[in-house]
Amino acid sequence: MEFSEIVKARYATRSFDGRKVDDKLMDQLMEMVRLAPSSVNLQPWRIKVIHDAHTKQALLPHSWNQPQITSCSHLLVFCADTDLEARAKALYSKMKASGIPDEGVAGFAKMVDGLISSMPPEARLPWAQKQVYLAVANALNGAKSLGLDSCPMEGFIPAEYSKVLHLPAHLVPSVVVPVGYAADTPRPKVRFEKKDVFF
Ligand SMILES: Cc1cc2nc3c(=O)[nH]c(=O)nc-3n(C[C@H](O)[C@H](O)[C@H](O)COP(=O)(O)O)c2cc1C
Repeated sequence: MEFSEIVKARYATRSFDGRKVDDKLMDQLMEMVRLAPSSVNLQPWRIKVIHDAHTKQALLPHSWNQPQITSCSHLLVFCADTDLEARAKALYSKMKASGIPDEGVAGFAKMVDGLISSMPPEARLPWAQKQVYLAVANALNGAKSLGLDSCPMEGFIPAEYSKVLHLPAHLVPSVVVPVGYAADTPRPKVRFEKKDVFF
Protein backbone atom coordinates (compact mmCIF):
# COMPACT_ATOMS: atom_id res chain seq x y z
CA MET A 1 0.00 0.00 0.00
CA GLU A 2 1.26 3.50 -0.82
CA PHE A 3 1.89 5.65 2.25
CA SER A 4 -0.90 8.02 1.18
CA GLU A 5 -3.29 5.05 1.20
CA ILE A 6 -2.04 3.90 4.60
CA VAL A 7 -2.76 7.22 6.30
CA LYS A 8 -6.25 7.25 4.78
CA ALA A 9 -7.02 3.66 5.74
CA ARG A 10 -5.65 3.76 9.33
CA TYR A 11 -8.29 4.46 11.92
CA ALA A 12 -8.72 4.22 15.68
CA THR A 13 -10.04 0.67 16.03
CA ARG A 14 -12.38 0.27 19.01
CA SER A 15 -12.95 -3.45 18.72
CA PHE A 16 -10.65 -6.26 17.62
CA ASP A 17 -11.68 -9.78 16.62
CA GLY A 18 -9.29 -11.49 19.04
CA ARG A 19 -7.12 -13.15 16.38
CA LYS A 20 -3.45 -13.38 17.33
CA VAL A 21 -0.99 -11.49 15.16
CA ASP A 22 1.81 -13.67 13.86
CA ASP A 23 5.15 -13.21 15.66
CA LYS A 24 6.93 -12.39 12.41
CA LEU A 25 4.48 -9.56 11.66
CA MET A 26 4.88 -8.23 15.19
CA ASP A 27 8.62 -8.33 14.72
CA GLN A 28 8.29 -6.26 11.52
CA LEU A 29 6.11 -3.77 13.36
CA MET A 30 8.58 -3.48 16.25
CA GLU A 31 11.33 -2.82 13.72
CA MET A 32 9.35 0.11 12.28
CA VAL A 33 8.84 1.50 15.78
CA ARG A 34 12.51 1.04 16.63
CA LEU A 35 13.53 3.15 13.64
CA ALA A 36 11.48 6.20 14.68
CA PRO A 37 13.34 9.50 14.86
CA SER A 38 13.96 11.35 18.13
CA SER A 39 15.62 14.54 19.26
CA VAL A 40 19.42 14.04 19.44
CA ASN A 41 18.61 10.40 18.67
CA LEU A 42 18.17 9.67 22.38
CA GLN A 43 15.25 7.27 21.79
CA PRO A 44 13.86 7.88 25.28
CA TRP A 45 11.26 5.16 25.01
CA ARG A 46 10.77 1.62 26.21
CA ILE A 47 7.79 -0.32 24.95
CA LYS A 48 6.23 -3.11 26.95
CA VAL A 49 4.68 -5.72 24.65
CA ILE A 50 1.80 -7.60 26.25
CA HIS A 51 -0.05 -10.50 24.70
CA ASP A 52 -1.21 -12.63 27.61
CA ALA A 53 -4.89 -12.43 28.45
CA HIS A 54 -4.30 -12.25 32.20
CA THR A 55 -2.25 -9.03 32.05
CA LYS A 56 -4.62 -7.41 29.55
CA GLN A 57 -7.53 -8.24 31.85
CA ALA A 58 -5.66 -6.73 34.82
CA LEU A 59 -5.12 -3.51 32.84
CA LEU A 60 -8.73 -3.22 31.65
CA PRO A 61 -10.16 -1.45 34.75
CA HIS A 62 -7.26 1.02 34.57
CA SER A 63 -8.09 1.76 30.93
CA TRP A 64 -11.62 3.13 31.37
CA ASN A 65 -12.77 -0.43 30.57
CA GLN A 66 -12.16 0.23 26.89
CA PRO A 67 -12.70 -3.05 25.01
CA GLN A 68 -9.65 -2.62 22.76
CA ILE A 69 -7.45 -3.56 25.71
CA THR A 70 -8.67 -7.14 25.96
CA SER A 71 -9.85 -7.80 22.38
CA CYS A 72 -6.53 -6.88 20.74
CA SER A 73 -3.79 -9.35 19.97
CA HIS A 74 -0.87 -7.34 21.36
CA LEU A 75 -0.91 -4.33 23.62
CA LEU A 76 2.03 -1.96 23.25
CA VAL A 77 2.57 0.23 26.30
CA PHE A 78 4.76 3.10 25.20
CA CYS A 79 6.75 4.34 28.17
CA ALA A 80 8.77 7.53 28.27
CA ASP A 81 12.22 6.82 29.71
CA THR A 82 13.16 9.74 31.94
CA ASP A 83 16.60 8.35 32.82
CA LEU A 84 18.12 10.45 30.07
CA GLU A 85 21.68 10.04 31.38
CA ALA A 86 21.47 6.25 31.08
CA ARG A 87 19.97 6.50 27.62
CA ALA A 88 22.71 8.92 26.55
CA LYS A 89 25.48 6.70 27.91
CA ALA A 90 24.06 3.68 26.08
CA LEU A 91 23.76 5.75 22.89
CA TYR A 92 27.41 6.86 23.00
CA SER A 93 28.49 3.21 23.34
CA LYS A 94 26.26 2.26 20.46
CA MET A 95 27.69 5.04 18.28
CA LYS A 96 31.25 3.92 19.04
CA ALA A 97 30.35 0.30 18.31
CA SER A 98 28.86 1.35 14.98
CA GLY A 99 32.19 2.86 13.92
CA ILE A 100 31.74 6.57 14.64
CA PRO A 101 35.18 7.94 15.60
CA ASP A 102 35.77 8.67 19.30
CA GLU A 103 36.23 12.41 18.72
CA GLY A 104 32.91 12.57 16.85
CA VAL A 105 31.14 10.78 19.69
CA ALA A 106 32.87 13.01 22.29
CA GLY A 107 31.70 16.21 20.54
CA PHE A 108 28.16 14.90 20.25
CA ALA A 109 28.20 13.73 23.88
CA LYS A 110 29.27 17.18 25.07
CA MET A 111 26.31 18.75 23.28
CA VAL A 112 23.81 16.14 24.51
CA ASP A 113 25.12 16.13 28.10
CA GLY A 114 24.75 19.92 28.07
CA LEU A 115 21.18 19.63 26.83
CA ILE A 116 20.28 17.09 29.52
CA SER A 117 21.93 18.96 32.39
CA SER A 118 20.23 22.23 31.39
CA MET A 119 16.80 20.58 31.45
CA PRO A 120 14.78 21.26 34.63
CA PRO A 121 13.73 17.98 36.29
CA GLU A 122 10.05 18.65 35.55
CA ALA A 123 10.82 19.08 31.84
CA ARG A 124 12.25 15.60 31.41
CA LEU A 125 9.01 13.68 31.20
CA PRO A 126 7.24 15.97 28.69
CA TRP A 127 10.43 16.08 26.60
CA ALA A 128 10.67 12.29 26.54
CA GLN A 129 6.94 11.96 25.86
CA LYS A 130 7.23 14.21 22.79
CA GLN A 131 9.66 11.70 21.36
CA VAL A 132 7.44 8.79 22.31
CA TYR A 133 4.63 10.14 20.15
CA LEU A 134 6.83 9.85 17.06
CA ALA A 135 7.38 6.17 17.80
CA VAL A 136 3.62 5.82 18.30
CA ALA A 137 2.98 7.33 14.86
CA ASN A 138 5.29 4.72 13.34
CA ALA A 139 3.36 2.01 15.18
CA LEU A 140 -0.03 3.23 13.94
CA ASN A 141 0.88 3.68 10.30
CA GLY A 142 3.27 0.75 10.39
CA ALA A 143 0.52 -1.55 11.64
CA LYS A 144 -1.75 -0.52 8.77
CA SER A 145 1.08 -1.09 6.26
CA LEU A 146 1.27 -4.70 7.53
CA GLY A 147 -2.49 -5.24 7.22
CA LEU A 148 -3.05 -4.70 10.94
CA ASP A 149 -5.29 -2.35 12.89
CA SER A 150 -4.51 -0.28 15.96
CA CYS A 151 -5.73 2.46 18.25
CA PRO A 152 -3.74 5.22 19.95
CA MET A 153 -4.92 5.49 23.56
CA GLU A 154 -4.38 7.97 26.35
CA GLY A 155 -7.48 6.79 28.21
CA PHE A 156 -5.69 4.89 30.94
CA ILE A 157 -4.20 5.55 34.38
CA PRO A 158 -0.40 5.57 34.09
CA ALA A 159 0.26 5.02 37.82
CA GLU A 160 -1.94 1.91 37.84
CA TYR A 161 -0.24 0.56 34.72
CA SER A 162 3.11 1.03 36.46
CA LYS A 163 1.88 -1.04 39.38
CA VAL A 164 0.42 -3.88 37.30
CA LEU A 165 3.49 -4.03 35.06
CA HIS A 166 6.00 -3.52 37.91
CA LEU A 167 7.69 -0.70 36.03
CA PRO A 168 10.67 1.16 37.49
CA ALA A 169 9.99 4.82 38.32
CA HIS A 170 11.96 6.16 35.36
CA LEU A 171 9.62 4.44 32.85
CA VAL A 172 6.34 6.33 32.59
CA PRO A 173 3.48 4.76 30.60
CA SER A 174 2.44 7.49 28.17
CA VAL A 175 0.45 6.02 25.28
CA VAL A 176 -1.06 2.58 24.81
CA VAL A 177 -1.47 1.03 21.36
CA PRO A 178 -3.53 -2.15 20.99
CA VAL A 179 -2.76 -3.98 17.75
CA GLY A 180 -4.70 -6.71 16.00
CA TYR A 181 -7.42 -7.30 13.45
CA ALA A 182 -10.43 -4.99 13.53
CA ALA A 183 -13.89 -6.25 14.32
CA ASP A 184 -15.39 -2.82 13.60
CA THR A 185 -15.34 -0.69 10.47
CA PRO A 186 -13.76 2.71 9.83
CA ARG A 187 -15.88 5.82 10.33
CA PRO A 188 -15.69 8.69 7.84
CA LYS A 189 -12.69 10.90 8.63
CA VAL A 190 -13.67 14.18 10.30
CA ARG A 191 -10.80 16.59 9.73
CA PHE A 192 -10.35 20.34 9.41
CA GLU A 193 -9.93 21.71 5.91
CA LYS A 194 -6.44 22.44 4.62
CA LYS A 195 -7.19 26.16 4.86
CA ASP A 196 -7.94 25.77 8.57
CA VAL A 197 -4.76 23.82 9.19
CA PHE A 198 -2.08 25.44 7.06
CA PHE A 199 -1.37 29.16 7.01
C1 LIG B 1 -2.97 10.64 21.75
C2 LIG B 1 -4.27 9.99 21.43
C3 LIG B 1 -5.03 9.41 22.44
C4 LIG B 1 -6.23 8.75 22.14
N1 LIG B 1 -6.89 8.09 23.13
C5 LIG B 1 -7.95 7.32 22.80
C6 LIG B 1 -8.56 6.47 23.76
O1 LIG B 1 -8.18 6.41 24.93
N2 LIG B 1 -9.60 5.72 23.36
C7 LIG B 1 -10.07 5.72 22.07
O2 LIG B 1 -11.01 4.99 21.77
N3 LIG B 1 -9.50 6.51 21.14
C8 LIG B 1 -8.45 7.30 21.46
N4 LIG B 1 -7.84 8.06 20.50
C9 LIG B 1 -8.32 7.98 19.11
C10 LIG B 1 -8.91 9.29 18.60
O3 LIG B 1 -10.18 9.48 19.15
C11 LIG B 1 -8.93 9.21 17.07
O4 LIG B 1 -7.62 9.08 16.61
C12 LIG B 1 -9.57 10.44 16.44
O5 LIG B 1 -10.92 10.53 16.78
C13 LIG B 1 -9.47 10.42 14.92
O6 LIG B 1 -10.05 9.27 14.39
P1 LIG B 1 -9.22 8.22 13.51
O7 LIG B 1 -7.96 7.90 14.28
O8 LIG B 1 -10.11 7.02 13.41
O9 LIG B 1 -8.92 8.84 12.20
C14 LIG B 1 -6.69 8.74 20.80
C15 LIG B 1 -5.93 9.35 19.80
C16 LIG B 1 -4.72 9.94 20.11
C17 LIG B 1 -3.90 10.51 18.98
